Amino acid sequence: MRKKIVAGNWKMNNTLEEGQKLTSEIVNMVNDEVNEDVTVILAAPFTHLTMVKSGISAASKVYLSAQNCSEHASGAYTGEIAAAMLNSVGAEYVILGHSERREYFSETNQQLATKVDIALENRLTPIFCCGESLEIRENGDFVSFVCNQINESLFHLSEKEFSKIVIAYEPIWAIGTGLTASSEQAQEMHAALRSFISDKYGNVIAENTSILYGGSAKPSNAPELFACEDVDGGLIGGASLKSRDFVDIVKSF
Ligand code: PGA
Repeated sequence: MRKKIVAGNWKMNNTLEEGQKLTSEIVNMVNDEVNEDVTVILAAPFTHLTMVKSGISAASKVYLSAQNCSEHASGAYTGEIAAAMLNSVGAEYVILGHSERREYFSETNQQLATKVDIALENRLTPIFCCGESLEIRENGDFVSFVCNQINESLFHLSEKEFSKIVIAYEPIWAIGTGLTASSEQAQEMHAALRSFISDKYGNVIAENTSILYGGSAKPSNAPELFACEDVDGGLIGGASLKSRDFVDIVKSF
């Protein structure tokens, strides 16, 4: 059985104090209200990781993620954060290849393959993001584009390594725009990705890979998205900054 996961991507939002309040509200609501077996992940800015780690210690379902890591192990890379550092402050997950990193920081599939390796070496579970632009969606090449992202960044992994990966499909045209992929569009892509993974790693690994949807997910559309056979949860941006909305999404399975 693959894991059901809801991850909140705070992006570059919240002061330490605001993040602390949000963390404690989420932990309390998850402890009180969530009976389902769902893995809840908070992807906080680097400066907040230690605080969030201590805030979630009382919640059995809540885990810590970073939003990026360096492709280098250590050394003279001013301003960068190494995977080993994330592990040392208690992060369990790291988001890699978010479309904002790809677009604003020119991250390539090849560079992301290196980041995936270094994350795994440091016992971090990559939440690997993929997704197409509106232009590619309208061209009709979206399935092969997204499969190619997976191929170039993940298919060098061994079966054992790949089985640790979480995938997040986030159509760029739906991120922060209020436009959500329809449940049919999400299901189509998720099923295509699972079959692509199955061709490479076999059916058992494909069936056990959690594939999350991201892009303007909110309490009103999460139940329909999460009801899709191949949608195993969500990567939530805007709505993860409001505890009530975020926990309502967690409860949408
Ligand atoms: P959004 O962001 O929910 O605000 O669209 C999702 C993401 O970028 O991970």
